[in-house]
Amino acid sequence: MSKLYNVLLVLCLACGTLGENNYEGYKLYQITPKTEDQVEFLHQLDSNGHFDFLRHSRLLGDNSEVIVAPEIQDFFENTLINFTASGLEYKITVENVREALETETAPNSTNHYQASSSLFTEFVSHAVMNEYLLTLERLYPHIVQVESIGRTFEGRDLLLIKIGANPNNPTILVDAGIHAREWIAPPVALYIINQLVENPANYRLYQNVNWNIIPSLNPDGYEFSRSSTWNRLWRKTRQPNQSSTCIGTDPNRNFEYYWMFAGASADPCDEIYAGPQPFSEPETAALATYALRNRDQIKLYISFHSYGNMILYPWGYTNDLPDNAEELQWLGELAGLAIGRVSTLNSRYVVGSSTNVLYAAAGGSDDWVKGVTGVGLAYTIELPAGGLFGFNPPATSILPIVQETFEGITIFHAYVEAAY
Ligand code: ARG
Ligand code: ZN
Repeated sequence: MSKLYNVLLVLCLACGTLGENNYEGYKLYQITPKTEDQVEFLHQLDSNGHFDFLRHSRLLGDNSEVIVAPEIQDFFENTLINFTASGLEYKITVENVREALETETAPNSTNHYQASSSLFTEFVSHAVMNEYLLTLERLYPHIVQVESIGRTFEGRDLLLIKIGANPNNPTILVDAGIHAREWIAPPVALYIINQLVENPANYRLYQNVNWNIIPSLNPDGYEFSRSSTWNRLWRKTRQPNQSSTCIGTDPNRNFEYYWMFAGASADPCDEIYAGPQPFSEPETAALATYALRNRDQIKLYISFHSYGNMILYPWGYTNDLPDNAEELQWLGELAGLAIGRVSTLNSRYVVGSSTNVLYAAAGGSDDWVKGVTGVGLAYTIELPAGGLFGFNPPATSILPIVQETFEGITIFHAYVEAAY
């Protein structure tokens, strides 16, 4: 690394409070690295934690998307220009993030649950999601049970729905929405629930396998991201931090397994802040407590995120592979292919270990589940992108995305049913 890189990284230690603002004057840069050096530089910037990378280039020629605050844009651009001779390309795809957030057609959203069909035509509130789960419990008490696994910092109920014919069956644990702004994730979980419970054609899917699904694991953050256009890109929880005015922790850096080992930040103002200590967030602690208590039944864990069309498995803290990497790889590939086959959006999934496909990031839920509970199969699925910032699929894309993803889910089901 040359001095220049270091200067930029050091400078950025002072670059402040991303997310605690209305994004006035912030720009979105699309950067296409053409040499290994440039890829490495972007990785350094990213793990520095002060920039909001919406997308990370994994390979030469692959785009990174990063939001940069006004104070450091000149310096940032000068640095990039230094690279252009060696082929790096960048462009500013959004000149003013605040304006773009305000003008991007706000997807329909609703606070009232009417029929289950509205779940997939608009982005519903957390309250509506909970209402849906409780309605299913009332209507289908023989196969559905709803349990609160805990409360968020702001006091919202974290509901988990259990679907199954026999509590002793092997269980698939699913969560979604741990990152607030990744709005397409909860509908994917809700659609799995909807298809299992309300589509009689799928009754076989819960005869020999149980499902435990938490469709909205970070509802404080989610509701905050819905509360104004400026807050749309909120990622973290909403618990305040001592010693900082910046709010929230990245819940997917907060799990107690190689916590803070790589790709996580100790600065509360960063998007990848790992928290003051592991499980500082009630949301992550609730998931962990539940998973530990049910570790013997759980055979497979899936956490839904967006975006990037990736099926990731541990480890996220190291580029070493787990013992059963081969099994994780081919099962992931089968699921990805099943989605690709039916996709009307031309979804093509990349499958691999988090660190190798994406970047090192310790403290994720998938690593913790695999490393601590002993559940052998753990995945993070990065769903398709949509909208200017990737987190905003139009409401009309909800249905195609949830439907195609469900095809992949049936592969995971078939394997758990056959293998356990
Ligand atoms: N985009 C996800 C995140 O940054 C990927 C998580 C993959 N898993 C991991 N343990 N790093 O949280
Ligand atoms: Zn995420």
